[in-house]
Amino acid sequence: MTTGLYLDHNATSPLRPEAAAAMQAAMAITGNGSSVHRHGRVARRQIEDAREQVALLVGAEPGEVVFTGSGTEANALALHGCAGRRRLVSAIEHASVLQNAPGPSGCPWTKQVSSV
Ligand SMILES: Cc1ncc(COP(=O)(O)O)c(C=O)c1O
Repeated sequence: MTTGLYLDHNATSPLRPEAAAAMQAAMAITGNGSSVHRHGRVARRQIEDAREQVALLVGAEPGEVVFTGSGTEANALALHGCAGRRRLVSAIEHASVLQNAPGPSGCPWTKQVSSV
């Protein structure tokens, strides 16, 4: 455990004990949610229950909730997932957003703006 005042909530925030306990319980379940055997189906049920809870929390349909492994993956998915639509990206976005913006390695269909 680290001591002192933590101020970098822009990067990450302390995990609530309830969330840590729920994660620990979920991680104790062995099974790949894509497998068809019993262990896989139990894992899949956990994922689908979580999807339904998140959907309820944000007022969405479960089918609209997509889990990703990281913020970077979520940003890339969001930007690449609506190809063909116009989107604006500010100059102060996280690097994972800017890497999907116009430029030598970015996406040609995303416009980067320096002021709004
Ligand atoms: C806005 C934003 N996007 C993406 C990331 C990167 O997240 P990850 O390290 O989970 O890929 C961060 C990390 O701080 C972030 O603040």
